Amino acid sequence: MKVEQQDMRSSPPDKVKLQLEGIGKTFLTDGKALSVLEDVHFYAAEGEFVSIIGPSGCGKSTLLNIVAGLEEPTMGTVWLGATSAKTRLGVVGYMHQKDLLLPWRTVLENAVLGLEIQRVPHSEALLRAGELIGTFGLQGFEGSYPGALSGGMRQRAAFLRTVLADQPLLLLDEPFGALDALTRSRMQEWLLKVWGLWRKMIILVTHDVEEALLLSDRVYVMTARPGKVKLVLNVSIPWPRSYQVVADDTFIKMKSQLLASLREETAGVDIRSGP
Ligand SMILES: Nc1ncnc2c1ncn2[C@@H]1O[C@H](COP(=O)(O)OP(=O)(O)OP(=O)(O)O)[C@@H](O)[C@H]1O
Ligand SMILES: [Mg+2]
Repeated sequence: MKVEQQDMRSSPPDKVKLQLEGIGKTFLTDGKALSVLEDVHFYAAEGEFVSIIGPSGCGKSTLLNIVAGLEEPTMGTVWLGATSAKTRLGVVGYMHQKDLLLPWRTVLENAVLGLEIQRVPHSEALLRAGELIGTFGLQGFEGSYPGALSGGMRQRAAFLRTVLADQPLLLLDEPFGALDALTRSRMQEWLLKVWGLWRKMIILVTHDVEEALLLSDRVYVMTARPGKVKLVLNVSIPWPRSYQVVADDTFIKMKSQLLASLREETAGVDIRSGP
C-alpha cells in the first residue's frame, strides 16, 4: 500500500468515462457575481469510485449538479464518454444532499420512482425494491410516508431509490450525513460489498475523510470557495476492502494528510458566519 499524489492535470487513463476540463461556475444573484468553481479538472474512469471532499460552500454540490446536467458550467467542458454531453441527464443516478422524497408517496413508492421513469413494470420494480428494503433498514416502513420518518431513514430511502435506478454513473452527495455512526458504517460496508460486484462509476461527496478513503480509488480535495482542486490522492489499498483497513498505518497516514489539507482551507474561518 502506498500514498500517491498526482499532478492534477496529469493525463487520465484510457478508460476515462467522465472528464471535467477547466470547469468554472459563477452565479449571478441580484446583479452580484459569486465565483463558486474555478478551473476544476477532474476525471473518473469506468468502474472507479471517486470522492470529493472540501470545506462547506466550496462548490461540491454545484459540481455534481454540473456533472448531472442540472447546471451548465460558465467555463470549461464536461466530457462523458466520447461526447461533450448535453445528454447526460438520463444516464446519471443522483442522490441529492437534500433527500427530495415525494411527500405524497410511501417509502416503497418513492424507492421505485426511478424504475417507473424507466418504464420497468410496477410488479418487477416492487420486487427489486423489496429485495433491498431490509438491507437499507427500512423493513416495516414500506408503507410509511416521508413525513413520518427520521432524517436517517429518509436518507436511506433516497439512497435506495438512487441505487435501484441502476444507472451507469452514480452521484452521491453526502449520502450518509444524517446517519448515526453505527448505521453509517453498516451502509458503508454494504456499499463496499455491492460496489465490488457492480463496479459502477461512483462520485461521492463527503465531509468524512475516513469514509472517502475507505470507499475510494481516488480522493479529490477542494479549496475553499471558489473551489479548485488542491490535492488528488490515489488510494492504493487493494480491493476487496474491509473495515479493518482503517487501523492500518498507511490508512492513518493518508487520513492525516487529507485532514491537514482540509484544515489549511478552514483555518481562520469563523464557523458562526456559515458557508
Ligand atoms: N443556484 C444558486 N444560485 C446562487 N448561488 C448558489 C446557487 N447554488 C449554490 N450557490 C452558492 O454556491 C456556493 C457553493 O454551494 P454548494 O452547495 O455547491 O457548496 P457545497 O460545497 O456543496 O457546500 P456544503 O458542504 O455545505 O454542502 C454557496 O455559496 C452557495 O450559496
Ligand atoms: Mg453540498
